[in-house]
Amino acid sequence: MMANFPAMLSLRHLLVLSLALNVSLILRMVYEGDDQQGSNNQNMGRIIQKSRLVIPSTISANSTRKDHAGVMDKIINLDHGDPTMYERYWRQMGDKTTIIIPGWQSMSYFSDPTSICWFLEPEFSKEVVRLHNVVGNAVTQGRHVVVGTGSSQLILAALYALSSPHATEPISVVSAVPYYSSYPSMADFQKSGLYKWAGDAESFNKDGPYIELVTSPNNPDGYTRKSVVNRNQGLLIHDLAYYWPQYTPILFASDYDLTLFTVSKSTGHAGTRIGWALVKDPEVAKKMTKFIELNTIGVSKDSQLRAAKVLKAVSDSCEEEYSQGGEESFFKYSYKALEQRWKLLRVAVDSGGLFSLPKFSSAFCTFLNQESEIQPAFAWLKCEGDIEDCGSFLRGHKILTRSGEQFGASPKYVRISMLDTDEHFMQLIYRLTTIQK
Ligand SMILES: Cc1ncc(COP(=O)(O)O)c(C=O)c1O
Repeated sequence: MMANFPAMLSLRHLLVLSLALNVSLILRMVYEGDDQQGSNNQNMGRIIQKSRLVIPSTISANSTRKDHAGVMDKIINLDHGDPTMYERYWRQMGDKTTIIIPGWQSMSYFSDPTSICWFLEPEFSKEVVRLHNVVGNAVTQGRHVVVGTGSSQLILAALYALSSPHATEPISVVSAVPYYSSYPSMADFQKSGLYKWAGDAESFNKDGPYIELVTSPNNPDGYTRKSVVNRNQGLLIHDLAYYWPQYTPILFASDYDLTLFTVSKSTGHAGTRIGWALVKDPEVAKKMTKFIELNTIGVSKDSQLRAAKVLKAVSDSCEEEYSQGGEESFFKYSYKALEQRWKLLRVAVDSGGLFSLPKFSSAFCTFLNQESEIQPAFAWLKCEGDIEDCGSFLRGHKILTRSGEQFGASPKYVRISMLDTDEHFMQLIYRLTTIQK
């Protein structure tokens, strides 16, 4: 589309133009003649004016009725947590994260024979430790780093490592409702004799050993979590995919036995397929390494090198912001981008009575050095009143979400990705507001 515009019209001009047009669009089309909604209307306008959102050209002030129908017809798929929102930041970083790998490099299976995780690239491991030290979200001392093809592979590796081949029955795997929708199938897909999904941790009352998956902040609802079963023979996996400053205030450096992180959610590089585990017990780290060895004989070196470069750019951006008053760090940028999205979403949801969202309280973030908000990667939206199946209701309006049922919760809830493109996000806002008119 851009290519149709005269080359001399800079991107900035287009953005300003698009924002100006769209403020009036939303004010005019969505709230026209509705006095009651006046303050929402102004709020929305204010947020959009200040925002860095690129509003889709299909939603513009001079759009016609036909355009309006077009906007409402298109399916927007916000089922997955695909973090395309971050693309703009990384485009702006230009060559800072470009890597060139000559054909002769990274050919061997092996990376670091001195590490328990023998396929761990030292450069990647170094940047993992550095980033945690910069952000202050995890203790790395006394931990073994195990790299995985996404934290998905590490979840499986951890289930394998924490279960015993000598047990008389599979160990129960639990997580509190609403839990990350992939956990049940991850645990049961291969019908392992080692472990078995046992559902909601809150109602788990079986004696004996168990593995509890603790996701904090939680996917889907964004709340901070602690383990809930709290019994003797519990083994914990802390899935901290979202424990980064753009999503939640950093309150302390996590200091657990087995903690998982991923570039998918921290920097948005989901396609690089790199995650890492911080593991206290060397025997557990060895077993996780063995699992990955049998599964994929290690983890792509090319991806590890790329991830190392991205993590380095993030740490550099944080250090430069503080020491040299440089540009905004990656986290500050993404915090502000998500802040704007959440404000817009709340205005859209509050414009009628059909939907509601979780409420959070702010807290002091030790990384941002300010009071900061919880602004999850997903909106856990509830349909109010007599709409029992929120997912179907929204599908009727061509918004694809993930039903609460997949998280062990009620179908009155859906999970909506907040990390998609500006275009899809703005279409969501537009539709949620229009549905409630
Ligand atoms: C809580 C949580 N854990 C793990 C993952 C898997 O991430 P990946 O395999 O991309 O690292 C996700 C992805 O959505 C997630 O939300």
